Amino acid sequence: MEYVLKIGGSVLTDKNKEKTLSEDFDSILENLKGHENGVLVHGAGSYGHPQAEKHGVKEGSYQGVLEVHRSISELNTEILEKLSEIGLKPVPVHTSSIAYRNPETQLHLDKLSGILDEGFTPVLHGDIVPHKDKGFTIISGDEIVAKIEKQYSTGKAGFCSSVEGVLDDEGNVLDEINSMEEFTDKGMKATDVTGGMKGKVKQQIDEGVKARIFGKDGLEDFLEDRNPGTLVNPSPQ
Ligand code: IPE
Repeated sequence: MEYVLKIGGSVLTDKNKEKTLSEDFDSILENLKGHENGVLVHGAGSYGHPQAEKHGVKEGSYQGVLEVHRSISELNTEILEKLSEIGLKPVPVHTSSIAYRNPETQLHLDKLSGILDEGFTPVLHGDIVPHKDKGFTIISGDEIVAKIEKQYSTGKAGFCSSVEGVLDDEGNVLDEINSMEEFTDKGMKATDVTGGMKGKVKQQIDEGVKARIFGKDGLEDFLEDRNPGTLVNPSPQ
């Protein structure tokens, strides 16, 4: 496994229109051409968040979970079809089928290396997850990437987000962040983005894994090892 990459829902979808792909959808995914030996994780954007909110799935619910899963699966299918068009052999791996919370998250990721050995590219996504005594809750792609990197140590975990990286007080992109104490949300524009960015950094720091956060223009650089955006590095030398 050469890399694990999450592409955020805000990059792949139009967050303002339910179940609508973003204008950049095709061009973003075309960057993956020739990069079959990695794991792709995608977010939900307008194919999951509005539906999950409507039914209170974030707090725990059984009602509405199939609607959320169906919707994100539709986005997953769109992504698989695009990847196949550019020559990859993608395989859907629905996170809800390999996850359980008790209440800490257990993810069964062993099959990923076998799928890659066959020359196929696993495509996972944020999803509903069965949660002890709560019905289902939501697992984000950010948590999935942290767990995959923890287990497989690719040394190349990345997040393609709607922001160019983690920002400082003045709104400049930091080269590196080592702890949550260094995180500030003053430079961020929208609260939605702030929450998303904070969670992303925290998940990696909690798991003790390194990851790079960059914007959509940084995706090619990430895949070609040119180190865009901010490095989240919980254990600097
Ligand atoms: C959310 O996944 C999953 C659902 C709401 C079903 P993410 O948290 O990874 O999605 P984005 O990237 O924020 O859209």
